[in-house]
Parts: sequence; structure tokens; C-alpha cells
Amino acid sequence: MGSSLQEEIIRLAASKGVLIDPLAVKELENKNDAIARLQTILHSFDNPPLIITHEMISGTGPETAESAGHGEPVGTVGHISSTPSPPKILKDITGNSTSRGNVKDFAKYFTDRFHSLKKILMRRGDMAGALPISRAVRLNRDISVIGIVNSVHTTRNGHKILEIEDEEERCKVLLMADRKDEYVLKDEVIGVKGRMNRERTMIVADAIVRPDVPFNRSVEKIDSTSRVAVLSDTHVGSKTFLREEWDLMLDWLKRAPEARDINYVIISGDLADGIGVYPDQEDDLEIDDVYAQYQRVAQYLSELPDWMRLVLMPGNHDAVRPAEPQPTFQTELRKMFDSRVTFVGNPATVEIEGRNVLAYHGRSFDDVISSLPHLSWERPIDAMKELLKRRHLAPVYGEKTPLAPEKRDYMVIDEVPDVFITGHVHSYGLDDYRGVKLISGSTWQSQTSYQKMRNISPIPAKMPVFDLASLNLNVVNFSEFHNNQRHSMHRVV
Ligand SMILES: [Fe+2]
Repeated sequence: MGSSLQEEIIRLAASKGVLIDPLAVKELENKNDAIARLQTILHSFDNPPLIITHEMISGTGPETAESAGHGEPVGTVGHISSTPSPPKILKDITGNSTSRGNVKDFAKYFTDRFHSLKKILMRRGDMAGALPISRAVRLNRDISVIGIVNSVHTTRNGHKILEIEDEEERCKVLLMADRKDEYVLKDEVIGVKGRMNRERTMIVADAIVRPDVPFNRSVEKIDSTSRVAVLSDTHVGSKTFLREEWDLMLDWLKRAPEARDINYVIISGDLADGIGVYPDQEDDLEIDDVYAQYQRVAQYLSELPDWMRLVLMPGNHDAVRPAEPQPTFQTELRKMFDSRVTFVGNPATVEIEGRNVLAYHGRSFDDVISSLPHLSWERPIDAMKELLKRRHLAPVYGEKTPLAPEKRDYMVIDEVPDVFITGHVHSYGLDDYRGVKLISGSTWQSQTSYQKMRNISPIPAKMPVFDLASLNLNVVNFSEFHNNQRHSMHRVV
């Protein structure tokens, strides 16, 4: 049931040929000068926008302008921000790879993984008293240890037996059947709290402790009016690249008032479709030359509005080494792009106007989703939470995700980011985990024959957008253009 004020708001917007977002209606209803405000907004545009958004309402009026992070009154069409500062690369393998892949390298790699995650675990109050396994197993009291998981076996009775290892000792850990929802991944680093059994052959676990993201993390306030758009898995060169949706997106970025603060675009991997990535891929390719594919990517990206800075990261389809961490594109490919582009490896942490953004293509979802029964391909966001809990982007070694044994484990999430972006699954999702904003990018490719065979239905042509100051997440949907729908920005979190 709509109130009469609500109806009046909608009628007034409609009379100017403008749609109004339900959240914007709600926001207006709470103001005592709702109609006057709406009139001001409507009159402030030379060309009316497609839709009045919640942001446009909260950006008006002296009492909300500051809190919304928009000092300028809404309605100044045209780009008013000064040139956005280039993203700063904080962590990236590019130029730092030392891996030759021998046995010594692997030993060093796992030692670094263990130490980095142990350090994070020891910062937790409940693990501060952790002892080396060699000492803990001699004690007759409650103990805490930290180890990397060598193996996980489930017994016939449904108990799980883990073998964990630290710098000098291994031991077995029993997880009773009543803890059947506790799934431990091979090669993850965990804390174990428990007691030795009577036979002194294993630790009976009371709790498995993960490094995780601390509760009540304070998110710094920053002064920025910029927004960041996320594109993922563009797969240029494939016959199933969604050219029409892509063009609609370009058009929206050029014209929509909501796009004028989008100063950054991050593409989280699989820019091109590549060649020979899966069996019979050549049948699905429109462009069968890898250089020509990147020339096309560069051409498409050059059409993005000139005020936008770009961050480009490779994925498993791209022409870089497949083993993660992946260094960025080689010079020959990089020079095809204009100077607005910052090239990073996969994964990479970049700082954009004071916000830390962690981007990872997401190959490890292939292993994590198949190892943890409560996860699904349709909800990559849940898999992202599992990675954050483990503070590691690719916890499982030796399955589908190829890992290069670098001296430092670049897959460890040592700093908690403000925003965590992934792609790869061609699905889509936005969420929040203990204050970390999670974005799973969509794709710009429709279902391929390979995905059809594997029963994977992509959710294409959605563009997540976030505000750097408020970290609010939105999405612009370009997937339903056939129904002639307008492309509005919906607030999700
Ligand atoms: Fe992809």
C-alpha cells in the first residue's frame, strides 16, 4: 500500500519522464520537504537522468551532503572531479618471481606459508598460548598448537583424523563425528585447541581455529568522491563475447549521471579468451590469434571515458604463465594499451585513494568449491568468505590450481583489505564479511559449449560499482536489454 506522499513523488518524477528508485522514494519520504527536494533535483539537470537514485537524494541538503561524501550538490552534469590519482601497487609478484620449481623452492614456499599464517593466528587472543607440537604433546592439560594440514581422513564412524605439522614435529588430530560440519582443507594452516588422548597418540580437538578477519575492525574514513567499477571475465575473442551488452555498458558509462564519479575500472582477469585453454576451444573463437585478441581488448578499453583509470589483471585464460601468483602481461601486450592502464599480476593488492583493494581472479574456487560441500558455483561469495577465514587465496595445493613455489607466499592475505574482488566463476555476487566488501564480478561472455556440457549457467553483463568513501556496493545490470529495461544502479549492501 503506497502512501499518498509516495504516490505524489512517483507522479512528479513520471511527469518529467524519469524513473525513481524505491530506495530514493523511501529516502525522500523521510524528509519534511520531499517534494521541494525532488523538484530541485529534477530542475538541476539539463538532460534528465534515466533514474533518480538514492545517492542523488542523500547527496542533497546540507545535513546529508557531508555524510554521503559528496560535497557538490547533485545535478551538476558533466565530469567535475579532478584527474584521479593512479592506483598504487602494494603487493604483486610482477618483477619479483624467483621460482624455478625445484624441491628446495617448494620447501621454502611452504615454510613461508606456515610462518605467515602462524603469525596471524598468534595475534588472536585465543591462540596466544600456542606451543610447538613437540612440547604440547607431552602435556596433560588443555593445549593449543598451530600446524599445516598434511592430510585429512574420514573414518568409517564419521570421525576425521588430520595430520598436522609445524617446523619440527607432526601429530595426529581427532575431530569427532559430532563436528561433521567442520571441514578442513589439505595444506591450510590451522590452530587446534584440545587435549592429548589417553593413549597419547593424538590430540582430541575441542576447536579448530582459523586466522580469519578480526571482528570490529575499524574501517578508516577517507575523503573521496570516486567510484570504482568492476568488470571481470570479458573473454574478448570468443564468439560468445556479449558485444551488444558491452556497448550498452560503454554508452551508460559515457552518459549516465551516476557514472560521472566512476574514476576507476578494475578488470579481474580473463580479459581475452586465449587459445588452447580447454579442449576444442578453437571452435568457439571469433579471433584465433592471441595478439589480435589483445589488440581487440585494447580497442574496446580505449573507448571507456577518458577520465577513467584502469587496472588490468590476468586470469587463467590470459597469455601469462598459468602458475599462480601470475606476473602481469608481457611488454609486447602492454604496449597495445594507453597510459591510463595500471597492469598488475594475479593476485594483487592496490591502493586506490587510500582504500586497499585485493583482486584475485579466482582459479582456486575450482578446488575450494569442490572440497567444501556447503559451497556452490552459484554462490562464489561463500567461497570468498572461506578464503578470508583461512587468510589464503589458494589453500589447496596439488589439485587444479597450479602454484609456483615463490620464496614468499603471495597467496597469503597478510593485510585485511577494504574490498576483495574475484571473478572466474562467471557468476555474480556482492556481500560483506566482517567489514570487508566482497565482489564477485560477472562476465561479458554468454554460455559456452564447454559450460553447457558442465551445466554451468553464467550470470553475465552485470557491473558492480563501489564508492571509495562509503564502500557502498551497487550493481548496474546490462543483461536485460532485450526487454528494453533501463539500466539503473541498485544498491545491494
Ligand atoms: Fe573466465
